[in-house]
Amino acid sequence: MLRQALRAADVPPFHAMAMARRAGEVEARGQRVFHLEVGQPATGAPAAARAAVVAAMERADPLGYTNAPGSMALRRRICRHYAEAYGVEVATDDVIVVAGASAGFTLAFLAAFDAGDRVGVLEPGYPCYRNALLALGVEPVAIPVGPDTRWAPTPELLAAAGELDGLVIASPSNPTGTVLSAERMAAVVQWCATNNVQLIADEIYHGITYAGPATTVLAATRDAVLVNSFSKYFSMTGWRLGWMVLPQHLRDAVERLQQNIYICAPHVSQVAGLAAFDATAELDGHVQRYASNRQLLTAGLAAAGITQVAAADGAFYVYADVTELATEAGDSMALCYQWLDGLGVAATPGLDFDLARGHRFVRFSYAGAAADIAEACDRLAQWVR
Ligand SMILES: Cc1ncc(COP(=O)(O)O)c(C=O)c1O
Repeated sequence: MLRQALRAADVPPFHAMAMARRAGEVEARGQRVFHLEVGQPATGAPAAARAAVVAAMERADPLGYTNAPGSMALRRRICRHYAEAYGVEVATDDVIVVAGASAGFTLAFLAAFDAGDRVGVLEPGYPCYRNALLALGVEPVAIPVGPDTRWAPTPELLAAAGELDGLVIASPSNPTGTVLSAERMAAVVQWCATNNVQLIADEIYHGITYAGPATTVLAATRDAVLVNSFSKYFSMTGWRLGWMVLPQHLRDAVERLQQNIYICAPHVSQVAGLAAFDATAELDGHVQRYASNRQLLTAGLAAAGITQVAAADGAFYVYADVTELATEAGDSMALCYQWLDGLGVAATPGLDFDLARGHRFVRFSYAGAAADIAEACDRLAQWVR
């Protein structure tokens, strides 16, 4: 008999990717599309990373498997990064290089949780935590956050979720761009320690902040799993490269899981990633561009009457309450399809990020080109009129 696991049947789509696919279909019909749907820099890997890869090719480096935890040179460079950027000591043994943050979550969830465990995920939040947990038979427990706490979790909100085995947080967060202050981070860490909850901290948007650097979870605890990636600040989404900093009790399990599930992260990407750490001037230039895109998008949306946006200090998204427009269209999903088909403006429906309230919200990404953002806003303003 042909079979599909019930768990797999229940895994929802990642709507941002589904929307990107639909946008591709619209483009294939010859219509121009302005991409505000996917959180992907318009730029490629930094020049130094590309040069390092070219040099490896010219040396005919076989670029075979690395050790499961990753090349020692890259792991040492990651440790140096924590010392220089945060003043935090990290040992190379604590670092495992992975195939993007996404692989890091799979490894962390498999190492830390059993089927049936309950793991808190913030709503709105990045949907793949919830969906990957579901795929592994772990129960995601939604913890709603809103503007009253600046979209940040508090011990009171966490306590309201009932008994938990784990908690996933992200700072800066997707879709709201919320950055947890050192005090808020310490309060979450303390709550997890008191309640015996395994904390997993996604720091993928570190480096993309607009009001000073974000604090790392490692400054408050060494019991959490930290996940980071080359996809965002380093502008290397397709290279599929990230890293984890692990607490001692999960290190061996994650290494064994990596050996068996992925073997190692792509070697060529590890070569590029090592060089990317020295491309600060180029990469900080991208962050300056995001900062000006952010103003452009916020002003452009305001001109289209979209003013209810989450206060954000990081990442490259505007998460907007579009209740009125969404209600007219049916919901935010229908609204996004109307915008894509009618205006060529691609945005992501809030339903990706929040099952309860997302039908009233839309996420706009400003990682792309300024000219596209400006044109998309003009089209939205005309449409609203
Ligand atoms: C919060 C967050 N975590 C993880 C990811 C996926 O990262 P990666 O490309 O490293 O797998 C994304 C991608 O958009 C994200 O927004």
